[in-house]
Amino acid sequence: MIGTAKAGIEVSITGLGCKVPDRVVTNDELSQHVDTSDEWIRARTGIRERRIAAPEEALSDLALPAARDALARAGVTGKDVDLIIVATVTPDMAFPSTGALVADALGATDAAAYDLSAGCTGFMYALAQAYGMLAGGLAHRALVIGGDVLSKILDWSDRSTLVLFGDGAGAVVLEAVPAQGFLGFELGADGAGGANLWLPGSGSRLFDEPDKHVKMNGREVFKFATRILVQSAEDLLAECQVSIDDVDLYIPHQANVRIIEVATRKLGVPSDRVVINVDRYGNTSSGSVPLAMAEALADGRLQPGMLVLMTGMGAGLTWGSALMRWTMDAAA
Ligand code: ACO
Repeated sequence: MIGTAKAGIEVSITGLGCKVPDRVVTNDELSQHVDTSDEWIRARTGIRERRIAAPEEALSDLALPAARDALARAGVTGKDVDLIIVATVTPDMAFPSTGALVADALGATDAAAYDLSAGCTGFMYALAQAYGMLAGGLAHRALVIGGDVLSKILDWSDRSTLVLFGDGAGAVVLEAVPAQGFLGFELGADGAGGANLWLPGSGSRLFDEPDKHVKMNGREVFKFATRILVQSAEDLLAECQVSIDDVDLYIPHQANVRIIEVATRKLGVPSDRVVINVDRYGNTSSGSVPLAMAEALADGRLQPGMLVLMTGMGAGLTWGSALMRWTMDAAA
């Protein structure tokens, strides 16, 4: 799916918040669980540490503070929102949806609320969906949350996956603005590659696998990621008739520094225009892009008027890019 914003209702991000668990887990700490080392993890992934949720902490415990922060910065309350989408593969439970739980906690009694599953690309899918509903006039103000607590579904004895992931959530408020905001989206899925990153036993299909842990073919996902981050971004830029040289800030999914470096080199984005925080948070799945966005806004790298390109990829296999003219002030 690919498309550009049509003249009419212009939609942008007017609020942004994020939340990560308090507990910092270093590479050295992980080496007490599996046969790995700080040196290997840093060299192959660029990750130094990640945040890991407490046993009693579920997705909504991260999503709610992120959402409250985003709403406050947009100057609105839950009651003012009529759409809530939570992008995640680790909801509190299969049902009720975390979206419905969040809506209740926020007093968003007029909102449609649901969860969306698109792996690490979930936040990009949710942004596009919310944009479409706002631009089409079906909704008027949306809360989009991307977050995961993958630590709960990892095999803590599998070094090939354990070292990569962390927990976190980010939230944005989307609403009509006088000008600019989202310019276009490109989204895709390839179920044929799904078995390269999967969670057997997590649904209605029976598997021989006795556990419900993330399983991954790292090399195949690496190849997919370095190809699709580039292809998705280039397709969207062409559709929007924008050159990569015009992009002021690139916010890629934070899976692995090596993946980001390969993609940015192929795309031709200078490193000072790339947001990277995977070193401190690991891969937070649907939380990754909003967490990086919040950090860039906080440290002044994201300024109103900037052309921002975001691209995610992940389980499905799925991918998605969004291009927008940033409109929110850091002081908001
Ligand atoms: N510590 C030490 N050694 C390890 C570890 C570890 N944590 N993990 C694997 N190894 C070993 C392997 O067993 C292998 O040993 P061998 O040569 O004796 O067989 C060796 O290191 C090299 O393994 P490779 O898989 O070739 O290592 P590679 O350089 O490809 O890095 C990695 C592995 C980091 C997983 C990389 O393939 C990668 O980043 N893939 C993409 C993963 C990803 O982004 N997944 C998330 C997608 S988004 C989503 O939806 C969740």
